[in-house]
Amino acid sequence: MADEPGPLQAPRGTKDVLWPESWRWEQVVARFAVLAERFGFGLVLNPMFEDVRVFRRGIGDDSEVLRKEMYELTDRGGRQLALRPEGTASVVRAFVQHRPPLPWRAWYVTPAFRYERAAAGRYRQHHQLGVEALGTDDPDLDVEVVTLATTVVADLGLRQVELGMNSMGCAQCRPRYIQMLLAHLRARHGDLCEEHRDRYEANPLRVLDCKTAECRSATSDAPHLVDHLDSPCAVHFARVLEGLDSLGTAYHLEPRLVRGFDYYTRTTFELAALALDAAQNAVGGGGRYNGLVEQLGGPPTPGIGFGMGIERVLLACDAEGVLRAEPPAPDVFVVDVTGGAEARDLVADLRRAGLRAQRAYDNRSMRAQVKLADRSAAPVAALIGPEELGTGTVTLRWMADRDAPQEHVARSEVVGALVGRLRSPSAPRCTKQIEERP
Ligand code: HAM
Repeated sequence: MADEPGPLQAPRGTKDVLWPESWRWEQVVARFAVLAERFGFGLVLNPMFEDVRVFRRGIGDDSEVLRKEMYELTDRGGRQLALRPEGTASVVRAFVQHRPPLPWRAWYVTPAFRYERAAAGRYRQHHQLGVEALGTDDPDLDVEVVTLATTVVADLGLRQVELGMNSMGCAQCRPRYIQMLLAHLRARHGDLCEEHRDRYEANPLRVLDCKTAECRSATSDAPHLVDHLDSPCAVHFARVLEGLDSLGTAYHLEPRLVRGFDYYTRTTFELAALALDAAQNAVGGGGRYNGLVEQLGGPPTPGIGFGMGIERVLLACDAEGVLRAEPPAPDVFVVDVTGGAEARDLVADLRRAGLRAQRAYDNRSMRAQVKLADRSAAPVAALIGPEELGTGTVTLRWMADRDAPQEHVARSEVVGALVGRLRSPSAPRCTKQIEERP
């Protein structure tokens, strides 16, 4: 194709995340990692693209994502591939391929690609943090996984997030329910939205999830799956809810919560940020998928997990005024008007000692360098001029306190002196620090 003139820009539905906004991403990922590891999950890394059959078999031919949104490609070797639209199917494919010992608990952070109508909070490349736990159907695990999700949002400071719970039943009880739902939809067929009028027979559960006013009203009195679970599924769900009650986790039952992929069985859940527009307020969601490992060629192995959209989480943070971009300032700004070699060596020494050190370049004037030091918000500037060079010293200027006398410290002692001062509990701090990982 001919190269068209005009500025090059990120593709529609994608965005660049630059500093300091990217600092918030670091925070979200780092805090998620701490919590996921506290809950016993280890990091898994998977390819961004897979054999397209991973998603066809995994998430189901009839799901919206598969029918309309997958980025599919054929590589130069003729392989049919797809960019991952979500994390679960790839993680389960990796489990089937490598068979790590059970129980297996993996967390991930990944871009996900869906050809959606781009809007605020809906992107063609979004990013998910997620976990998958394989190896047991124990409802207490469901409680742990849901609790991890609610803990993550609470840890970020979000308060206006609601947890909706449902059960999708199993291969025994769901088909019976689907017949009941179909009977209901047939009777209301003329009232459904245009898309579902033609498609409801193919996957009637999707109609429950449809956001159009027509489908909402036509299903307002539809039977609920939770009322028609078989006994093992009902007992499982009751135990999950009992666990959430016992831990004091607030939730409400959400009978329409059928989720967008075909792999779900039993527990499903979603976290809705009330501060966001209802159309895009799901900040996370997940559930059980007890048949997925088998669908992808492995032995019968139950599993459960969730995915959380980083962009949506940050939009919710904006709406609630939490987790503002406050990246840490440097600890020390080195000003050197003797040619730069002193600054080169001093920032290296400071960094080796664990301090965040910055400097100016290009042999700029004292005035210009001090201005940069000021702008950097470092609490202290380390100044080196001809006098300091001659006496083997460094002058420290505490930037926040203009009246404080400057200090002259021997070059050989300045790193230790700064570490002692800046790492002491009463050290000046310009901005919040990244929470230390345990
Ligand atoms: P999902 O609900 O499709 O589930 O996506 C998880 C989260 O990703 C959503 O709650 C939302 O925050 C975010 N998200 C999804 N699509 C977009 C988009 N186009 N733009 C921005 N954010 C988006 C899954 O993907 C499942 N794999 C979750 C799971 C894990 N179930 C079991 N294990």
